[in-house]
Amino acid sequence: MRDLLGDDAARRRAFDSAFVTVVGAAGYEQIVPPILEDIGVFSRIGEATDVVSKEMYDFVDRGGRHVALRPEQTASVCRAFVEHRPSLPYKAWYSGPNFRYEKPQRGRQRQFDQVGVEVLGTDDPYADVEVIAIGWDFLTSLGLADVDLVLNSLGDPEDRRRFSEAVGEHLRAHVGELSEQSRETLERNPLRVLDSKRAEDAPIIAGAPRIEEFWSPEAAEHFAAVRDGLDRIGVPWRLDGGLVRGLDYYRRTTFEFRSGALDSAQNALGGGGRYDGLVEDLGGPATPGIGFAIGVERTLIACDVESVFPGPAGGVEVFVVDTTGGSEALALSTELRRAGRSVDRGFGGRSMKAQMKAADRSGAELALIIGEDEAASDTVTARFLRGVRPQEQWPRAETAARVAAALAESKPPEMTES
Ligand code: HAM
Repeated sequence: MRDLLGDDAARRRAFDSAFVTVVGAAGYEQIVPPILEDIGVFSRIGEATDVVSKEMYDFVDRGGRHVALRPEQTASVCRAFVEHRPSLPYKAWYSGPNFRYEKPQRGRQRQFDQVGVEVLGTDDPYADVEVIAIGWDFLTSLGLADVDLVLNSLGDPEDRRRFSEAVGEHLRAHVGELSEQSRETLERNPLRVLDSKRAEDAPIIAGAPRIEEFWSPEAAEHFAAVRDGLDRIGVPWRLDGGLVRGLDYYRRTTFEFRSGALDSAQNALGGGGRYDGLVEDLGGPATPGIGFAIGVERTLIACDVESVFPGPAGGVEVFVVDTTGGSEALALSTELRRAGRSVDRGFGGRSMKAQMKAADRSGAELALIIGEDEAASDTVTARFLRGVRPQEQWPRAETAARVAAALAESKPPEMTES
């Protein structure tokens, strides 16, 4: 778990607003589910998954309820859908923290943020395409170029069940050749072995049954429409029959956005898929659903590696230095803030030198200085902190207008679109 201060927090906010721009343009509305829910909401993610069986932050509260910090938000959105029954299709986006008791490492924390979308109430393959395209366009909008969209279909539940059985049978026949970790995974969830990146598992995985042999005609047709849709709008994808994902609720379309800039153990920036049975499992009517979540920290690491999305430049426009006791700074900073400027000031009656240092650190372009002389002549001294413009003396009453003019001049001219 980490603290975010200053520039990191500002970048986190900018990340959210970049996401809101993309999802807002596609008609998604925000949902803010609680961070804590009844454990039953999350058990539906799959008792056989690590997320539920090993990583949940769960406890009994003072009222004797067994609750958990959410490990993800899809189940919460479905639970909220069952409770509130919004009109269909329900298209929602979210952003916020999740908790998993994993082994912390670069790109893997115990508290991590996700942004995501869910679409409930349609099994139209173009809804799958829309969701995937939103994830893709968002990552691209950050400036990321080294991202791969990996695509698979797990078929319908019966297809998936038969596939899982066949994979289990195949793996058990080669259990002696599997890595120790994969032997353990095989006991709980044979499909997850297909995700193994260990060299000794590779030849056995390569010989495993292939999912496409198990697709029902309907599932195959649905998946073909998804791929055609992605082609139509120019979203490049790569098929990977081994993509099974770590949560149990998936059926039909599954996908992951992988970054070439990260180690292979943590290279999934985000992922998602269809979960047509989940709303029903949570006590609602049969309702198809699809969505994705993107890991914020991991995506920002990929941005660092690719040197994109640096986040906004912090700081204020103006810093007021007052060596006469501080009440001039109070009046002037308030006046300028009310006029729409960003302004900071020194406190504690510190020396001119100390206040000028603070002005420098604040990122301001302009220091407005009020000493005894300025106070007596009802003026301020404007010192330009970036560039070579010499300092000026302004009448106190004109300060707001002079600040506006000076800042407008120092900004590069707006680019006009041709
Ligand atoms: P997930 O694959 O478990 O899917 O998580 C999505 C993303 O969250 C991952 O690709 C990763 O970037 C990030 N993430 C997961 N665990 C951690 C961690 N411990 N530290 C840092 N980042 C992490 C889901 O959560 C599904 N709810 C996605 C979904 C939405 N499926 C359908 N709708």
